[in-house]
Amino acid sequence: MSDQPLTGHNSPGEPCTIVIFGASGDLTKRKLLPALYNLKVLRLLPQNFSVIGVAVSEGDDASYRATSTEEIKEFATRPVDDAEWEDFRKRSYYLQGDFNDIETFKKLENKIAEAQAAWNLPGNILFYLAITPTLFAKVVEQLGTVGLTAQTPEAWRRVIIEKPFGRDLASARALNEDLRKHLEESQIYRIDHYLGKETVQNIMVFRFANSIFEPIWNRRYIDYVQITVAEELGVELRGGYYDHSGVLRDMVQNHILSVLSLIAMEPPSSISGDSVRNEKVKVLEAIRPMQPEDVISNTVRGQYAAGLIDGKPVPAYRSEPNVDPHSNTDTFVAMKLFVENWRWAEVPFFIRSGKRLKEHTTQVVIGFRRTPLLLFGEDLHSNIKPNRLVLHVQPDEGITMDIHAKRPGPNINVVNVPLDFSYREFGEGMAATGYETLLYDCMIGETTLFHRYDSVDASWRIVTPILDVWQALPARDFPNYDAGTWGPAASDHLLEKSGHEWHHYPLKT
Ligand code: BG6
Repeated sequence: MSDQPLTGHNSPGEPCTIVIFGASGDLTKRKLLPALYNLKVLRLLPQNFSVIGVAVSEGDDASYRATSTEEIKEFATRPVDDAEWEDFRKRSYYLQGDFNDIETFKKLENKIAEAQAAWNLPGNILFYLAITPTLFAKVVEQLGTVGLTAQTPEAWRRVIIEKPFGRDLASARALNEDLRKHLEESQIYRIDHYLGKETVQNIMVFRFANSIFEPIWNRRYIDYVQITVAEELGVELRGGYYDHSGVLRDMVQNHILSVLSLIAMEPPSSISGDSVRNEKVKVLEAIRPMQPEDVISNTVRGQYAAGLIDGKPVPAYRSEPNVDPHSNTDTFVAMKLFVENWRWAEVPFFIRSGKRLKEHTTQVVIGFRRTPLLLFGEDLHSNIKPNRLVLHVQPDEGITMDIHAKRPGPNINVVNVPLDFSYREFGEGMAATGYETLLYDCMIGETTLFHRYDSVDASWRIVTPILDVWQALPARDFPNYDAGTWGPAASDHLLEKSGHEWHHYPLKT
C-alpha cells in the first residue's frame, strides 16, 4: 500500500512549529505523537520542526521529553528508531498553564520564540486543540489576543479543532462566529478522523479513478445505500462526555454524514479542498431536514441493556461509570434519509450506528436494482440476490462485489459469488494511527479532508430536528436492546417497512 497522501503530494511542508494543547491527554499520547513520529520516519514531517506541548499538568521540557519517550515506546505503531526519536525528542518543549489565563499565552509566545531561535524556524505554526470542546473558543480568543493567529505571507497559522463542533445548530454557529473573530475560514481545520481512514479516502479514488462505476452510480441502477458503523465497545470511561452527547451527535453529525456525502456527491472538478467540499456540502443540503412526523416514522433510537460481548457479560449503559442511572441518552440510531436531487431522488439511504453491538464493523453497502428480465426461471431468480457492492472500512479494509455466476454442472444453477479485494492482500498496510494524513495535509495546507463550516452547518441542520423531537418525547422503552445484538427490533422494522433488510458482510480474507 502506498504511503502517499490522497492528494498525491509526497514531500513535506515548510518547516513549522506544532503546538499541541492538551499535551498530557489521551489523544496526544495514543494518536498524535505516534502519528507525528510516523510522518517523520516517512519523511513527510518537515526536516526542521519543533513540537510544543501545552497542558495544565505540572512539568517542564525535561519531564515532557521523558514522558513522551515513555509514551512513544508504548503507543508507536512501528518500531521506534533511536536516532529518529532522539531528533524528535530534543525538538520537543513543554509549557504548563491554565488556558483561561492570558499569561499562559504570553508565555507560549516566548516558548515559541525560544524554539524558533533554537532551530532557526520560520514563523509557521500549527495549533492542535486536543482539549475539551468548551475551551475551543477560549483558546482561540487567547491566541488571537496575543497575536499568534495573525498570518503574514512568510508565516502561516493553522488551527486543528477536534470534534464535537457544537452540540446543535445554534451552538455550532456560535462557536464558529467566535472562531472567526480571530481566524479566517482557511486557517480552521475541523478534523474528522473518519476522513483519515484508508477506505474512506478510497471512496473518492474508487468512484473517480474508475470509469465503470460513474454511469451506474445513480437512482436508475442503485436501489438503496446502507451505512453501518457498529462498535462492540461501550462508552468505556467516557460516560461523562457521552451521556450529554449520544450517538447522533457523537457519530452521525460528523463521521457518518461525511461518509454519506462522499458516496453521494457529484464528481468534483478537481481534488482540491474547495472543489470536493463544494460537492459534499451540496449533498448535505439536499437531505431535507425531517419534520417531527418523519422523525417518528424514519428514525429509531436505542440504548443498550446488559448483555454478552464475545461471550462475556457487560453492563447496561445506565450502569456505566459517570452515566446517570436514569439516563435517556441514545447509544443506537437507525434512520432512513433521502438525498433529494436528480441523482438520488427516492433512493433510501439507511444508516445505523451504535455501541455494544454484535460486531465491530464499518461498512457501506450499495444495493443495485434487480435485472429487468428473469431469464433463468422465477425459482432460480428468486434465489439470486441483486448485485451488491460493499465498501469495508474497518476492521478489515477492502471492497466486495457480489456478482452471479453459473455453478459448473449440466444444468443452469446461478449462484452469488463475492469478488473480494482486501487491502491486506494488496500490500503491506502502512502502520498508522489514522491521523498521519490529516496532520500532513494540514501542514501542507491541504483542506480536502477537513470540514468546512458550511458542511458542519448543513449536517447540524439534518440532525438538530431529530434531537429536538427525541428530547421533547423522551424514550419510554430504554434500555431497548441487549448488548451484543444488532440493536432494537425497531431497527429491522424500519427497513422491513420499505421492503429492505440490513446487510452485513464479513470481508473474506
Ligand atoms: C469517535 C467517537 O469520534 O469515534 C467515539 O467519539 C467512537 O465514541 C469513535 O468510539 C469510533 O472511531 P473508530 O475509529 O474506532 O471507528
